[in-house]
Amino acid sequence: MLAVSVLVFAVVGQTAARYTADWTSLDARPLPTWYDEAKLGIFLHWGVFSVPGFDSEWFWWHWKGQQPPDPKCVSYMSKNYPPGFSYPEFAPQFHGQFFDPEEWADIFKASGAKYVVLTAKHHEGFTNWGSPYSWNWNSVDTGPHRDLVGDLGDAVRNRSLHYGLYNSLFEWFHPLYLTDKKNSFKTQLFVMQKLLPELYAMVVRYRPEVIWSDGDWEAPDTYWNSTQFLAWLYNDSPVKDTVVTNDRWGAGCSCKHGGYYNCEDKYTPGQLPKHKWEKCTSVDTFSWGYRRNMKMSDLLDLPTIIADLVQTVALGGNYLLNVGPTPDGTIPPVFEERLRGVGAWLMVNGEAIYATKPWRVQMENSTIPVWYTTKGTTVYAILTTRPSKSTVKLLEPKTSANTQVTLLGNPARLSWSPVRPDGGLTVLLPELPHIPAHAWTLKLDNIHLKKWLQENLGLYFQGSSVVW
Ligand SMILES: *[C@@H]1O[C@H](CO)[C@@H](O)[C@H](O)[C@H]1NC(C)=O
Ligand SMILES: *[C@@H]1O[C@H](CO)[C@@H](O)[C@H](O)[C@H]1NC(C)=O
Ligand SMILES: *[C@@H]1O[C@H](CO)[C@@H](O)[C@H](O)[C@H]1NC(C)=O
Repeated sequence: MLAVSVLVFAVVGQTAARYTADWTSLDARPLPTWYDEAKLGIFLHWGVFSVPGFDSEWFWWHWKGQQPPDPKCVSYMSKNYPPGFSYPEFAPQFHGQFFDPEEWADIFKASGAKYVVLTAKHHEGFTNWGSPYSWNWNSVDTGPHRDLVGDLGDAVRNRSLHYGLYNSLFEWFHPLYLTDKKNSFKTQLFVMQKLLPELYAMVVRYRPEVIWSDGDWEAPDTYWNSTQFLAWLYNDSPVKDTVVTNDRWGAGCSCKHGGYYNCEDKYTPGQLPKHKWEKCTSVDTFSWGYRRNMKMSDLLDLPTIIADLVQTVALGGNYLLNVGPTPDGTIPPVFEERLRGVGAWLMVNGEAIYATKPWRVQMENSTIPVWYTTKGTTVYAILTTRPSKSTVKLLEPKTSANTQVTLLGNPARLSWSPVRPDGGLTVLLPELPHIPAHAWTLKLDNIHLKKWLQENLGLYFQGSSVVW
């Protein structure tokens, strides 16, 4: 009986820890473990901007917001649309008539991704759900007349993928936002009447496990009430135990506060960051939203995507790969092909990606580029180019007589010989299978344990602030 009550007390004591609405408290929250293990997510930019499908998801701003406007966008509109045509008139053409969330979720599952993040609301302010705070500017009142956020969420979760939502804090042309902006953000009309009621309602209704915040940079976090929102999210929301967020919560927060760090779009650190991070990038290198005039040469090819994923994971990041669906509700087949290609590579090599940690050394390039990851006492050496010889030399691993080397996807043990008495190995490669990604993984087991523990644990657990 005593033991039981001690246990109950301990559990209650732990869950009762509450976060306060300041960065010191919020930044100390450990990241829920599913996120670091997931490594790969799919990002979807879908909205009214998909209808013009021109320039990028920033089309409205480039056409009507920035001064001077982008002449490309102005001439596109004057050539192809009647005079006086306004951006909201695109909304009824956001039909989504072929949108089949089950089919989409099948593609995302086949990509090997473990989470999916959809734009619930981009900077244009249009919500992909029936937000009562976005009257007539949401996907239920107009366009597809459908709860896109809810329908995709059901299908994604049914395949055991985590579901996240992108939410833009600012809205380019919202009258209340423009008023606050004119008042140098000394007033919070937009935040109190639009942003926060909508954001709280969205979390309660859809229970997203990622809140991918954006559009924060014009005003400080105190204007957005970000710390108050996050304290509620972590203490009292229906997703308090599993939700993760990024770092875009107000000017100056990026790369400094929040959950994991995005830093800037397509962030690519040169060395191992001290904090969990995510690289978001887009298959269409010119846009996150759908572009009707995209060309094959504008797209990342599969070997580039795989090498980028591998480098990101080796440096402790997650990889959030974006595709832009069409206004008709389809995933362009060229994007589907990329996603399925990533999945095919992960079917063989996923062991070296999912739930791994960065190793003592993240890459070496003595002969060809090799990226390292680790899990337990196994080290994975991922080759992102085809070696020109039938051997490959790895200088960093410290081997022992018991070290075993295999190629993922092939059960045979590979012969190897030490390079130096204290480490390094030359591996005799089998014929490398032709996989379109041009990346192969050597699995090294029983790497010199004592040295490995000293160096690896020293780096990762010695009073460091690393929370992954
Ligand atoms: C997915 O949906 C099917 C059919 O409705 C159901 O049988 C299954 O349990 C669901 N799986 C999950 C993980 O929710
Ligand atoms: C916004 O923050 C202020 C304190 O800065 C707090 O008094 C208020 O309750 C917060 N409102 C919401 C809706 O979070
Ligand atoms: C590896 O080295 C080669 C030749 O020195 C160089 O061209 C290449 O950029 C390097 N790759 C990486 C990923 O550092």
